[in-house]
Amino acid sequence: MTQDKTSLLTIDMARGEVAAVTADGTRRVHRMDTPEAFEAVSAAWLRCGWDTKYVYGFTWLGRPVIQLPEDLLRMQELLWRERPDVIVETGVAHGGSVVFHASICAMIGTGRVIGVDIDIRPAARAAIAAHPLAPRIALIDGDSTAPATLAALRARIAPEERVLVVLDSAHTRAHVRAELAAYAPLVGERGAIFVCDGIMAALCGAPRSAADWGWNNPQAAIDDFLAAHPDFAVEEPAFPFNEGAVRRPVTYSPRGLLRRTGMRP
Ligand SMILES: C[S@@+](CC[C@H](N)C(=O)[O-])C[C@H]1O[C@@H](n2cnc3c(N)ncnc32)[C@H](O)[C@@H]1O
Repeated sequence: MTQDKTSLLTIDMARGEVAAVTADGTRRVHRMDTPEAFEAVSAAWLRCGWDTKYVYGFTWLGRPVIQLPEDLLRMQELLWRERPDVIVETGVAHGGSVVFHASICAMIGTGRVIGVDIDIRPAARAAIAAHPLAPRIALIDGDSTAPATLAALRARIAPEERVLVVLDSAHTRAHVRAELAAYAPLVGERGAIFVCDGIMAALCGAPRSAADWGWNNPQAAIDDFLAAHPDFAVEEPAFPFNEGAVRRPVTYSPRGLLRRTGMRP
């Protein structure tokens, strides 16, 4: 889903219609069996989910995971397709996402996870260490862009290993741009980086948002990175299974998947 510019949304359940008015006053009416209606309602649902902290309501195999369930399903599809040897994730928090990645690796039968966080709380560390999937998980303490963190990562990854990077730590433009520059060399031929929470610009004005989110967000960092790295491009994969009318994911991370498309410069 792209970020929606709708300023007024009316849902008429009796008629089975959705009316969306954009900021410039344009009004469009969509029947509910159209992808346009689904996108408009989903954009409102995502905003409402942000305001209500919906994503702070799930666990994965016992650990709190701060992800939209839709995004977890799409990540599972990506992992099944990519079959990485190593998933490097910045931003561990309670550990739910590293456990999620490790669980999919276990189901696939290959892969391990390295989680990086500047502030791994003792309770999270202990719970991850005691988890049945702990043998597939390593943790590195530190700022994700610090030279020591990157050296520790490189020491744990063999050059021939296929790496998938997931960036979910601080979401400022400068930090994500620095992460992208630092982690891109870990990603080999046809490898990928997934950037979380590119939705921020669409949440400007919402509770717990900041006035600068319109430009200070992971999507802006992606654009900065792509301008300097023509060997990467945004990939928007088609759903691997789709007998419905919807073609674009409902996601907190639009345009989040970056694929290496050419040789390193
Ligand atoms: C959004 S949470 C991660 C959520 C987790 N991936 C999940 O899905 O459950 C962000 C995490 O990034 C960490 N963080 C913030 N700034 C960081 C930095 N500069 N380097 C590494 N980690 C950072 C925070 O400590 C926090 O645990």
